Amino acid sequence: MHVYIEDIGRYDGQEVEIKGWVYNTRSSGKVRFLLVRDGTGIIQSVVSSDEAAPELFAVADKLTQESSLILSGLVRAEPRAPGGYEIVPRGIRVIQYTRDYPITPKAHSVEFLQPIRHLWLRSKKQNAILRIRHEIIKAIRDFFDNRGFINCDTPILTPAAVEGTTTLFPVDYFNETVYLTQSGQLYNEATAAALGKVYCFGPTFRAEKSKTRRHLTEFWMVEPEVAFLELDGIMDLEEDMVVYVVERVLEKRRPELKTLERDLAKLEAIKKPFPRITYQEAVERIRKQDKEFKAGDDFGAPQETILSESFDRPVMVHRYPAAVKAFYMKRDPRDDALSLSVDMIAPEGYPEIIGGGQREDDYDLLVKRIKEHKLPMDAYKWFLDLRLFGTCPHGGFGLGLERVVAWICKIPHVRETIAFPRMLDKIYP
Ligand code: 4AD
Ligand code: MG
Repeated sequence: MHVYIEDIGRYDGQEVEIKGWVYNTRSSGKVRFLLVRDGTGIIQSVVSSDEAAPELFAVADKLTQESSLILSGLVRAEPRAPGGYEIVPRGIRVIQYTRDYPITPKAHSVEFLQPIRHLWLRSKKQNAILRIRHEIIKAIRDFFDNRGFINCDTPILTPAAVEGTTTLFPVDYFNETVYLTQSGQLYNEATAAALGKVYCFGPTFRAEKSKTRRHLTEFWMVEPEVAFLELDGIMDLEEDMVVYVVERVLEKRRPELKTLERDLAKLEAIKKPFPRITYQEAVERIRKQDKEFKAGDDFGAPQETILSESFDRPVMVHRYPAAVKAFYMKRDPRDDALSLSVDMIAPEGYPEIIGGGQREDDYDLLVKRIKEHKLPMDAYKWFLDLRLFGTCPHGGFGLGLERVVAWICKIPHVRETIAFPRMLDKIYP
């Protein structure tokens, strides 16, 4: 009977079949230790020349790393084995003896591993990261679905910019230039007016021309948008979602967090309430450490790091100067120079993981902003309609999945948070 290693505890004392690959081999005198992986886990099998049939021992003796096989044998609890069980082998059917697998158990540099990402994914650590990524995606969907949000995905090919014109990827669309989407927000302002509360969750694209630890050119973003929700409510929603996601990973993915040697206490500290500070308060904190920083400027990596390291949980910075934010941001009624925007910065030195805010809902003001930002009015005509036909206060946010995975896994660089990262210098494999 074929079983998966993650379920092996249910088959103690039974004969089973494992289909997978050799993760590692070790020999000691007359004994061959095999570690076999099947994608769901790793299990040990010990073949001794004293006990095993000679043919079986001969096969085990020749096995190489990443050879594919079907291993049959008896499941036995073994506290000293990784995972607490081992297989007492009865038979090994080799599908392929693999030769010269490039990734050996010794440490390799990322420069070596990145071009063989298609193989690197098989390693224990990458496996753990991708499983946690999956859990985060599922938790995000559950969070919104449980609250009655409708998943409304938005187009990938779009006629106009959302987040500025400098990071657009042009695509030839039947002799017309269109762009890969930077964000589904504008379309979801329309679907929110139709369905009340919605979210999209898909790939977004930005032609980021610098190589950093936080930027991909293709990344996944979840973007909720809610009619009649104002800035404070948007912050509540962000906070609830992040707490829910972290709790879920702690509940379901402990073994993976252990593989990554994640400090669990740091994740357990992610509780409500998150600090909420104004841009102005953030500037005061930053200037204590960074005297050069000019009030009014947008935060870059050094400033975000200062803020990130000031708190043990994510911090929400609200009311950035309107001048550093996108055209669609609503102004603060108490100070027209400020926007009703909010960014969430993750702790432990991680960057902004969420950007959002309340949207300009007045027709005339939005026309003015589109002109000020020198955006093509025609492309936004439908968007302006939303302010003509039943406009209302509304808002939402975008959470960058890879940055959240990096933070929760405590991975220094976003390139390991997605199976096949796309960056300025990375399009292969
Ligand atoms: O702050 P951003 O640009 O906000 C928006 O796109 C809004 N339209 C979202 C909304 O309100 N619906 O991007 C949102 C998040 C950032 O906080 C960051 O986590 C992530 O998307 N992000 C990136 N992640 C990886 N690589 C990049 N190049 C990213 N650019 C943004
Ligand atoms: Mg942002």
